[in-house]
Order: sequence, then structure tokens, then C-alpha cells
Amino acid sequence: ENRQLLQHRMGHPARAWVKTFGCQGNVADSEKIMGLLLDMGCEPAVSEQEADIILYNTCAVRENAEVRLMSMVGELRRLKQKNPTMIVGLCGCMMQQEEVVQQIRRSYPFVELIFGTHVLHTLPQMINRLLKGERRVVDCYEGEGRENPIAEGLPIQRSGGVQASLQIMYGCDNFCTYCIVPYVRGRERSRRSEDVVREAEALVAAGYKDITLLGQNVNSYGRGLDEDVDFAELLRKVNAIPGDFRIRFMTSHPKDATERLFAAMAECEKCAPHIHLPVQSGSDRILRAMNRGYTAEKYLAQVDLARKYIPDLVLTTDVIVGFPGETEEDFLDTLALTEKVRFDSMFTFIYSRRPGTPAAKIEDDTPRSVIQNRFDRLVESAGRVSAELHRAQEGKTFRVLIDGTAKNGDYTLSARTAGGRLVHLHGDESLIGSWANARIVSSNTFALFGEITE
Ligand code: SAH
Ligand code: SF4
Ligand code: F3S
Repeated sequence: ENRQLLQHRMGHPARAWVKTFGCQGNVADSEKIMGLLLDMGCEPAVSEQEADIILYNTCAVRENAEVRLMSMVGELRRLKQKNPTMIVGLCGCMMQQEEVVQQIRRSYPFVELIFGTHVLHTLPQMINRLLKGERRVVDCYEGEGRENPIAEGLPIQRSGGVQASLQIMYGCDNFCTYCIVPYVRGRERSRRSEDVVREAEALVAAGYKDITLLGQNVNSYGRGLDEDVDFAELLRKVNAIPGDFRIRFMTSHPKDATERLFAAMAECEKCAPHIHLPVQSGSDRILRAMNRGYTAEKYLAQVDLARKYIPDLVLTTDVIVGFPGETEEDFLDTLALTEKVRFDSMFTFIYSRRPGTPAAKIEDDTPRSVIQNRFDRLVESAGRVSAELHRAQEGKTFRVLIDGTAKNGDYTLSARTAGGRLVHLHGDESLIGSWANARIVSSNTFALFGEITE
């Protein structure tokens, strides 16, 4: 029905554009949204300017995202004026925040569709209501008592070439005190392992070569399921699927990373020797205030254990600078921890106050310039370590998966090592999607540069 109604409203097959903000979870959701839209007879738009349906899939994790979104939505007004039959919609994590939704309702009357992450699978019905004349459809707030079913079997329009994300769980129960995710994404729910395995089998059969298992804390996978399964077991099940592919996963919470997990990683030959283990801080006092559930010492012990099981482990992390009440001494603890671990790469963030979270209530008068200075020192240190670790790879040969094009000097291709390091290569675009052996000839802070040896 939507197909005809869309055709009638637009006068031609509707062209859909989905713009994604935030983490890989949102990217995966957008792939489902696009899958649903194509099922309704839409075509992918070539650009936002010529789209008939525009959806922004938003992120709420940091404040500047909110400011940016509002100005971008403001710009959509002009597109809507030029093309009045166009449907403008907002969805994703920010739409689970009541104040944001109220502001949009008030300030942007041309936004006709607003929905949260938990009702994504009802998109066809929401669009149907709009097409039948409702002026605005809003379905938000994943409040207490609200059903959060896992919708299986949605069409997925994947966007990552030979790389695919596979969501194994939704939501988060950890309530780190700075973080909005548990509020906007709701309680943690795991998919049944047979559903995960079936999707992975289909991906392998379709030729995907790099599969990332996604969850906010994959290490707690399986909690609440009827079956007796944990993440280590799930890795083994996916690893048992025949085929030449790699398994990655994101993210591991250090409080739940166990020896069982490291042993499973070592045992599963398809599992990438990479772990993203966000440490957030190196100060026990701050870690406690963040409700992270581990100490710096415990984190370091885990890293040692992981490296014992997986000697060529690539280790990456997230760090927050400027958590309320962070002192110079706390910061130096963080700097010391990161220099001790020597992360292959680090994602560094300045603390962003999220109203509604416990940390937002902590008073803090640390000047912005002091926090910025800490941040700069951390970034400098992280870059130096990454560059050193990259330089140590020069002369080595890796089996890489060529996954896309690159524009880096005269390097044309991008590829990943098993550990997930970025490698730039010379070669023809026809090689995208294939494996190659690459000898590393040079490097910088962000990437390796290599030559294909066969
Ligand atoms: N579930 C993942 C992280 C998801 S959010 C985990 O716990 O490891 C990704 C990263 O954003 C976090 O690791 C954290 O470093 C950062 N982040 C989250 N909330 C933030 C905030 N309020 N201010 C600054 N950084 C934040
Ligand atoms: Fe946020 Fe913590 Fe959950 Fe990660 S584990 S999503 S940082 S609350
Ligand atoms: Fe952002 Fe939502 Fe992911 S808040 S980081 S898009 S879970």
C-alpha cells in the first residue's frame, strides 16, 4: 500500500536518504531503516538535495551533537520549501529525550516523523499514517514499563562493502554515571544465539568477509536468555561457520572481560586479534565515580592476561578527560596507565555533561582551558605511541582484507590487518573485497602503508 501512496504523493518512486550519527549501533539501525524503505518501493537517493524522504538517525552521547543537529535540521527547512511533498524525519537516540523532542515539535513544524530506537521496525506503519494524512507521527521515549521487543527478520540494506555489522544485543544496563546510552537505549537484551548464527551464516554465504558482532557490552551477552550461552560460546559458534571470514566485536566492558573470553579468542582462528577495551580513566577515584566496576590495577591485569593468550593482540581504548572533579593527579594516573599499556589507538573524549545522568549533578569548577590542556597532552601521548607501534610494523608482511578506496597521497586502496590496523595500498579498485599479502613499507600515526606482494 505504501508503494502506491508514495508514488501518488511524490509523483515518482520516492528517493530515500538516511544520514547517520553516532556509533556502529546506529549505523546498523540505519541499515535496517534503509532496508525497510527499499521494501516499501523507495530507491536510494543520490544526494540529500534530491531526496523525497530524509531521515536523520541521531546520537545523544555528547552535547555538541545536539547543537549540530538543531542547526542541520534548520537547514532542512529550505529543502522542504522547495519540495513540499518531501517527508522529513528524525529518529535515533536523541529522540528518546523528552526535552529534545519537545524542542523539535515547537521549532521545526516541518519535521513530520519523530521516532525512537525501540519502534524502528514499525516504520512502514508510521509512514503509512503520514501518507494517509496525519500531520505528524511521533513515537518516542523508551520509558519504564515500555515493551522493548527484539524485532527479528527485518530487511537490512548493508552499507559496508565486504564488512557487515551484526547486532547481537541491544541496550545497556551498566549506567556509567556520565553516559546517556542506558536511558535512551533501554535495558540490555540479547538476541538468541541461533538467530545470531543464522544471520552470520547468511552473511558468509552472501560473501561478507569481515563481520563485527555489536553490542554496548558484548561480554554480558546471553544474560536473561533461556539458553545457557555466553559471549565466549557465541564466538565459538560463529567461528564454526565454514568460510574464509573474520570475526570482530565491539565493545567489551573491562568489568566483564574474562579469561574465558581471551581463551575463546585465542582458540577461534577466525576471531580478529583485536580487543577494544575502553578504560575511560586511570584513576581509581574517578573510575569509582564513573561506576565502572574495576580499578586501574584490575584493568592492567586483564591486559596482561589478554596479551598472554593473544600475543599479537591489537588493543584500543576510549578515554574521557575532564570528568567532574578530575584533578591533575587523577589525570596523571590516566596518562601513566595509557603509557604503560601502549594502546595501538585511543579514542579520546572531553567529558560532556548529559542532563539526567548522575555525573551531571556533580559540581565542577575546573576551567575549560585546564581540561583542554589535559586533553591535548593525552592526544599527543596517544599519537606518539601509535606512531611508534606502527613504525615497529614496517618490514612485516600481513594478510589484509582490501575493503575500499583511499585518497592518501598516491595510495588508492584501504585494507585492514587481522588486528584491524588500517593499511593503505597501491592497486586497482577491482581488488576491493579480496585478500592480499601486504608488506609494510612506511607508516604514520594513523595508518600503515604497504605494497601488495602477491
Ligand atoms: N558501551 C561502550 C561505550 C559506548 S559510548 C563502553 O562502555 O565501552 C562510546 C564512548 O563515548 C565511551 O566509551 C566514552 O568514552 C564516550 N562517552 C560516553 N559518554 C560520554 C560523555 N558524557 N562525555 C564524554 N564522552 C563520553
Ligand atoms: Fe555507556 Fe557505560 Fe553502557 Fe558503555 S557500558 S554504553 S559507557 S553506560
Ligand atoms: Fe550515540 Fe546512541 Fe550510539 S547515543 S553512541 S548512537 S547508542
